[in-house]
Amino acid sequence: MSNAELWTAAVEVLRANDLGGWTKPAPRLYPYQWSWDSAFIAIGLVHVDPDRAARELDTLFAAQWADGRVPHIVFNNDTPAEDYFPDPGWWASEKFSPPAPANTPTSGLVQPPVHAIAAWHLAQVAGDAVRDRLRGLYPRLVAWHQYLVTNRDPDGHGLLVVYHPWESMDNSPRFDAALARVEVGQLPPYKRRDTGHIQDKSQRPTDAEYDRFLWLVNLLKAARYNDAAVQKTLPLLVQDVFFSGIFAAANHALSQLAGWLGIESDRPELDAWATLFSKKVQQQWDATERLALDFDVRAGTPIRVQTYAGFAPLLVPDLAPDLRDALVKELFGLRFVGAEGFKFAAIPSAAPGSPGFQQRSYWRGPIWPVMNWLFWWGLKQQGEETRAEELRQANLNLLLEPTSRFAEYLEPYTAEPLGSVDQSWTAAVALDWLAQDKAPT
Ligand code: DGY
Repeated sequence: MSNAELWTAAVEVLRANDLGGWTKPAPRLYPYQWSWDSAFIAIGLVHVDPDRAARELDTLFAAQWADGRVPHIVFNNDTPAEDYFPDPGWWASEKFSPPAPANTPTSGLVQPPVHAIAAWHLAQVAGDAVRDRLRGLYPRLVAWHQYLVTNRDPDGHGLLVVYHPWESMDNSPRFDAALARVEVGQLPPYKRRDTGHIQDKSQRPTDAEYDRFLWLVNLLKAARYNDAAVQKTLPLLVQDVFFSGIFAAANHALSQLAGWLGIESDRPELDAWATLFSKKVQQQWDATERLALDFDVRAGTPIRVQTYAGFAPLLVPDLAPDLRDALVKELFGLRFVGAEGFKFAAIPSAAPGSPGFQQRSYWRGPIWPVMNWLFWWGLKQQGEETRAEELRQANLNLLLEPTSRFAEYLEPYTAEPLGSVDQSWTAAVALDWLAQDKAPT
């Protein structure tokens, strides 16, 4: 396949998944609007249709809760409920939580705050074509960040807590120990829908994990999705280094967007948040693991696993040069990108051979092109242009394989496509990578 053919195919995936103002992440597996999917979709779509890209963020933020949270799923179409589970009735956010929107069903969880990074990217690529929409979006982005600072880091540590693996990386080994401690109570019978779409169950989380995922939602509902109550009662609480690294970067991006819009008043606060989270994420670096670690709040211990979340400091502003060098060395060393036998020199979601690694299972080892994009972006922020370019080329070569079909994730040794094909965010990052050859952004 040529680059031009890849471009055309990526545009076609986004067109086919477009439901008018927003894009479903995948044709069948994810039939509603997902929060961070939409942000990455906007990052690619801006090269094709800037106004539509900005609208992707607008439609997502239209379902923002009164407390500023941006829900991880917006159930904004009439997809038959049989296609996805847990369905809006399971979440019942409008019934249990006063700040939830009354007319649009949503989940009560959040996802990593990549939205301001996307918005600033749109401004840089499309300029005046998106200025008015971004001006409208801007206060909503600030409210979202304010929600995270106030409610997900109430003591001002500089690390945000997550309540559920769905807020970060689902079945990643990062959550194994914390999840194993969750005792599942009386769950009503339910039927998984994901394994109806993806028949090879080894690619998806296990049934035992699903029981825990759903039980956690029940507990969140019982706490009325109220952050203070959740933080007192929920058995799973993790200070998430990856989420927090993204947040540091997003505050820096939002401050730059504010400057571009001529809004100076918020910038000192946004810059202060960027600095606080940047410092703390860097302090999570563990000299033994040679990665930055999450912290399991309930167990009171750092989470010692080897996943690509450990490279979160590569995303933050003002990264210390020594740490940058150590991170780049680890990332491109034998544990990750340089692992023996990999078909393409891309970043796997977990280090081969490390506890919990499984090369076919979702977030436990496969290559996620969209996460490769994020770390590629991070490397560029850190001035690591040569390494960034190597990573871009490796990922483009992977996506150019005719079998790849914009898969959600791919097996690192064989490049077999896994999960859904025609995944929107994979197509979107392909567009942004291809656009680098057309015009510098
Ligand atoms: C899923 O359905 O697998 C999602 O990751 C939950 O958001």
